[in-house]
Amino acid sequence: MPGPVDLLTSSPRRRTRTVENLVRPFILKDEDYKRLMEIMLGEFNKGLGKETNPTAKVKMYPTYVRDVPDGTENGNFLALDLGGTNFRVLLINLNGQEVTMESKIYLIPQHIMTGTGEHLFDHIAECIYKFMNNHDLLNQKIPLGFTFSFPCKQMGLNHAVLTQWTKGFKCEGVEGEDVVRLLHEAIKRRGDIDVECLAVINDTVGALMSCAHSDRECAIGLILGTGTNACYIEKLENVELWDGDNNEPKQVMINTEWGALGDDGCLDFIKTEYDRQVDKHSINPGRQTYEKMISGMYMGEIVRLALEKLRKHGLLFNGKGSEELSTRGRFYTKYVSEIESDVDDHFKNTKQVFEELALEKYSDEDCRIAQYVCSLVSTRAAFLAAVGVATLLNKMERPDVSVAVDGSLYRFHPHFHDLMVEKIEQLIKPGLKFKLMLSHDGSGKGAAIVTAVANRLRESQSESIGENGLEN
Ligand code: GLC
Repeated sequence: MPGPVDLLTSSPRRRTRTVENLVRPFILKDEDYKRLMEIMLGEFNKGLGKETNPTAKVKMYPTYVRDVPDGTENGNFLALDLGGTNFRVLLINLNGQEVTMESKIYLIPQHIMTGTGEHLFDHIAECIYKFMNNHDLLNQKIPLGFTFSFPCKQMGLNHAVLTQWTKGFKCEGVEGEDVVRLLHEAIKRRGDIDVECLAVINDTVGALMSCAHSDRECAIGLILGTGTNACYIEKLENVELWDGDNNEPKQVMINTEWGALGDDGCLDFIKTEYDRQVDKHSINPGRQTYEKMISGMYMGEIVRLALEKLRKHGLLFNGKGSEELSTRGRFYTKYVSEIESDVDDHFKNTKQVFEELALEKYSDEDCRIAQYVCSLVSTRAAFLAAVGVATLLNKMERPDVSVAVDGSLYRFHPHFHDLMVEKIEQLIKPGLKFKLMLSHDGSGKGAAIVTAVANRLRESQSESIGENGLEN
């Protein structure tokens, strides 16, 4: 099993010990992980309870998606995917198990990510126009699904009120508003496209739906990318805030928004000085505590801060750094994956990263230390995410669950999957089985599937309503 690499057998003992002391807070004990599981279960239940939800940090939003797909969904759909590093518009064709899609990435410039909401939605509408124009779709009416990967209180399948921005977004005038309404208004302002959004989903739901399309055991959707979050299928009887119907299936997908775990201080006992610094300089201090210890938007920065600390103590690069290494956000999370992908003492990737950071002099020992720090930070992240999954598996008590996982961190890190499996196995109740499956293009395919169901419902409803508008 991969894990933290052994450090520096060749280096002077004292240096090794000092390095280890400075980064030791990243290593958590088994009992810490067990305690975390209890905390997490308590927070999930708090979010689900009617009385406790208003003060809960983990909001456990019901999604109005009630069931996994049955494979009969079909038709052409547009999908929007907003919430990661890229914004995408997709055209998806569903035909039973066959799915084809075309997509285009559009950049969301920084000034739009932190500008006004109106500007953001005008930009999105313009991208839809460009996409439809390029694909000769301007004279068609195609149902649209919107994967909007931020915490939303849903009032229906196509009503979602943003509660607060997360990750790098902070557009004025959107929190507290229905994002589907804002999208429709922007589309109307343009007046040159005929598009109606029938469903809005979180990316976790997209991942779950997309996997469930071929695997009916899939009951958890997990994102490990720019941010982290999970959704799962919960029994209606456990969702005190459920205000929809009680028809079969008596279940609903819950978007946990677990990234906010710890915002009330319950994770303080595992926080390191590096975590506190990351939080302090973030766009949303005090928020998304668990997410900041795990996801791709922050992992590189945690490593950078630790490396800088070691360097300042003269334990790395002979004490000599670079402007790049001292620059916030400049140590990308992909470097962590690259450095940990080095398997021998040539340290090819690690040296490449050092070059990119304009570090002039480095030894093999420096490479080993950097690799060690990366492995500590990523192992802690994988184990923390595993705690979340194990808590959900134990709570659901289904005998066999497939977990659909998506996100660049999970996809590109060489050991994340194995580390998570190892930890989940340790933490789940005996007899429960699970597997972690890579979910492909959940944000597009998942949105199309949910939209297809919404569209079918709408068509069957309008068929049963007579011309005078009365139900037959
Ligand atoms: C953030 C968002 C959440 C999303 C996750 C992964 O935590 O709040 O909605 O699912 O990132 O993209």
